[in-house]
Amino acid sequence: MNPQHEAAAATPLLDVEDLVVELMTDNGIVRAVDGATFRVGRGETVTIIGESGSGKSTTAMGILQLLPQDLAILSGTVRVTGLDVLGNRKAINKVRGRTVALIPQDPMTALSPVLSIGSQLVEAIRIAGRTSGRTQATTRASELLASVHIPDPPSQLKKFPHQLSGGMLQRVLIAMALASEPELLIADEPTSALDVTVQAGILDLLMEIQEQRGTGILMITHDIGVARLVSDTIHVMKSGRFVESGPASAIVDHPREEYTRKLLGAVPQLGPWDERPLDGAGTTGVDTVVEPAAGGTP
Ligand SMILES: Nc1ncnc2c1ncn2[C@@H]1O[C@H](COP(=O)(O)OP(=O)(O)OP(=O)(O)O)[C@@H](O)[C@H]1O
Ligand SMILES: [Mg+2]
Repeated sequence: MNPQHEAAAATPLLDVEDLVVELMTDNGIVRAVDGATFRVGRGETVTIIGESGSGKSTTAMGILQLLPQDLAILSGTVRVTGLDVLGNRKAINKVRGRTVALIPQDPMTALSPVLSIGSQLVEAIRIAGRTSGRTQATTRASELLASVHIPDPPSQLKKFPHQLSGGMLQRVLIAMALASEPELLIADEPTSALDVTVQAGILDLLMEIQEQRGTGILMITHDIGVARLVSDTIHVMKSGRFVESGPASAIVDHPREEYTRKLLGAVPQLGPWDERPLDGAGTTGVDTVVEPAAGGTP
């Protein structure tokens, strides 16, 4: 984080204290998030990493209050730029899609297949309330596409989602998220549906946006490679709880928890370690310590 951003970070963009999310399921109540406490400051990337089912998405959806109201019980405190939003519909509606925007995981399903890119982007701009008039909104749509490095915006606006690649569609979704000039982006596995080479371009884009605008990013991933690349701070989540938190370099280079070491060991290119189950099933403690990924491969 650069010093300018640091100075403005007095009030965190996102301040979550003791967030608990309980979900009503067919098998009873599941405590999917069990006391999450963390902050995201301006210009900062905070990552929640954990294995599948650890509660990462439920944390994000809980913050944004996008969980079905009759099936989710939330407690704790969630402040967005100082505004208390938990259990306050009016407050969350004020900030969601404005101060804070979500970048979804799967670009293919996040867009309507029957509407052009242009009309969906113009709608996002209209909702963000940043422009009046259709011509102005179309110009703004082109600008937004250009800002996410989509070539020839006017012709792309006329296309439909199936005419674009997954990576290009994810860029469109990022452009839509930027329509409101959000201060905070929540990205739930924004690259996991994409090829590795395309992933890198999307992560670069997010870092560029952050650099230029001082945007805070809450990154959700199961991929330590992604976490290592983008994070200032990492929270390691297991069964709804943060088991380890700290500066990204400390977590990656000196993980304290066995679970974190196994996540680090799950980097695919490292070979046999990624065969191991993350929850330790079939392993027996002391003799199963996995070398941190940062140790070997450059
Ligand atoms: N709609 C649901 N009905 C029942 N249980 C659910 C539902 N959504 C989530 N859960 C449970 O809540 C817990 C957390 O799920 P969540 O989707 O937040 O995990 P995640 O870390 O995002 O996993 P992934 O990496 O697979 O996306 C899991 O135990 C899951 O089984
Ligand atoms: Mg998830």
